[in-house]
Amino acid sequence: MSDRRGPIVTLDGPAGSGKSTTAKAVAERLGFRHLDSGGLYRALTLALLEAGTPVEEWNALTEEDMRALDVRVSSSGTSFDILVGGRRVSEELRGPEVTEYVPFLASLAPSRASLLHLQRMAGEDGRLVADGRDMGTVVYPSAEVKVYLVADLQQRARRRLKEVGHEDPTDEEIEAAAAALAARDRQDSEREHSPLRKPEDAHLIDTTRLGFEEQVAAIEALARAVERD
Ligand code: CDP
Repeated sequence: MSDRRGPIVTLDGPAGSGKSTTAKAVAERLGFRHLDSGGLYRALTLALLEAGTPVEEWNALTEEDMRALDVRVSSSGTSFDILVGGRRVSEELRGPEVTEYVPFLASLAPSRASLLHLQRMAGEDGRLVADGRDMGTVVYPSAEVKVYLVADLQQRARRRLKEVGHEDPTDEEIEAAAAALAARDRQDSEREHSPLRKPEDAHLIDTTRLGFEEQVAAIEALARAVERD
């Protein structure tokens, strides 16, 4: 298991497939840390929006410019806090404006390069569950356990609405949420740098009909099996 003190578990997949909540629960069970890499791209997006940098200028930014936005992580118990200029951010990362612009920011090579070292450092000692789009392909290619989570689009849309407190959406609301997720999946899959794709050596788990408990237990078992090796 390389020279790390424990395994790295990666969870990649499309928007709304349940990666972050699953990764968090798996990490808690294993006593590992959880890294939400999407939160890092959201933090860069938030910093640019707050700085008032017009979106049309984002693709002229260099890796240095991205680093100057000062997005960092600080380990806190079983997770990592995300800091922008030393300020801890969480709720504000999920706002609609950040969600709208994050796929564009994440398609730019300098943004990805600026976050790579930070993510690798977070996994230096292993004992990490990391979720995102390129965890198993680019950031931690030697991870011991790789999972690719998928779920039916309508189901993902329902789950997304439930997350924001919408328990009983109409068909139109489900269709609108599904269209937004599909658009984001397209942007993430068709981009040139680190596109969303299943790592060849990943376990494919379809959560459409799996209960939360079952999917967490399945991934926990995969991690425990490599820990015993
Ligand atoms: O939670 P949700 O699936 O809605 O999104 P997220 O994980 O917070 O990621 C937000 C966006 O960040 C994604 O749509 C990607 O554009 C980008 N991202 C990425 O490019 N690479 C990652 N490893 C994680 C997120």
